[in-house]
Amino acid sequence: MRRIEIDLAAIKHNYLELKKKLSGKEVMVVVKANAYGHGMHEVSKALEDIGVDALATADLDEALELRAAGIKSRLICWLVLPTDDFKLAKELDIEIGVANHDVLSAVDNDQKIHLIVDTGLGREGFVKADWESAFEAAANKSVVGIFTHLSNTSLSDDLKQRNKFDEAIALAKSKQITGFQTHISASAAALAHEDFDYDMARVGLLVYGHNPFEDKELTSVSLTPAMRAVAKSAGFKRVQAGQGISYGYRYVAGRATNLVLVPFGYAEGMPRISEGADVQILGRRYPVVGRIAMDQFVVEVGDDQIPIGTDVVIFGDPAKGEPSVDDLAHSAKTINYEIITRIGGRADRVFLDK
Ligand SMILES: Cc1ncc(COP(=O)(O)O)c(C=O)c1O
Repeated sequence: MRRIEIDLAAIKHNYLELKKKLSGKEVMVVVKANAYGHGMHEVSKALEDIGVDALATADLDEALELRAAGIKSRLICWLVLPTDDFKLAKELDIEIGVANHDVLSAVDNDQKIHLIVDTGLGREGFVKADWESAFEAAANKSVVGIFTHLSNTSLSDDLKQRNKFDEAIALAKSKQITGFQTHISASAAALAHEDFDYDMARVGLLVYGHNPFEDKELTSVSLTPAMRAVAKSAGFKRVQAGQGISYGYRYVAGRATNLVLVPFGYAEGMPRISEGADVQILGRRYPVVGRIAMDQFVVEVGDDQIPIGTDVVIFGDPAKGEPSVDDLAHSAKTINYEIITRIGGRADRVFLDK
């Protein structure tokens, strides 16, 4: 009845496009949060098949799950607790992002680690006042990376963070930490700051085929959205002018019209406030009307006839005339990241690879 189609060929295409675009840099693909809703196991396997440079998760449990599923690629996770099972992580060759002294002292000296420095995001990582002590404590550890994460606030903020990152790298080297890789850019900065000269990029959203910039088009690279959300229409009826539609009668039919019932509710991650968003049915766009409910919403199709069981595309590929993830995000006053990672519920995930 409801399906989230995942185009693994699109994910591989997007990765290879980015490898070309970021020539010379390693690309670590971020597969946390179930690969942004795309299916962490399937996405990781597809990327491993084409020789992905590295994969990254947030939690250690996600990384352990990937190893248990047979993923052998280089694997990093960066949101850990000092009580996590680092012995098992080491045994399974999982690299750990270390953001504080508690974790630093909990990992064995031969555990591969990436030191995370806070250069201005105010989120994870050692603040500048702690760099010296962190680098001294890490000098006899197996530091394979040093990284920071940008706030994407403005060009000047990014440049300030970049300069601070360079200071951190220089300080680490002065404490005899050597042979590590450096990485700063996620999707937005990977494209906006191609001149940032570090070893790797940590890229999530772009690999799933979406634009990380809210205020500009993605023109410099040709990507394909990998996710399509579709439901089979479960009802069709004609109502008269004046009929209120769904809870609270937030929409009232202005004339006699046909309505299609779509079994895809906020339990599937359809934002409750997305009244007015477009869906596509039989190649035409129609608006969502009235309150979105837990299991279903209503689409007004005027005088068109839509047989029950017809595919309703909630989002897909705008190049094919389908509504985009961005369209749905705008209707919900949110960003594409949130739409793709939260979509699902009772929908089947169907993997395509052609
Ligand atoms: C530390 C870090 N690096 C990279 C990424 C990937 O971000 P994006 O999806 O914008 O590429 C994330 C995602 O939130 C992150 O937390």
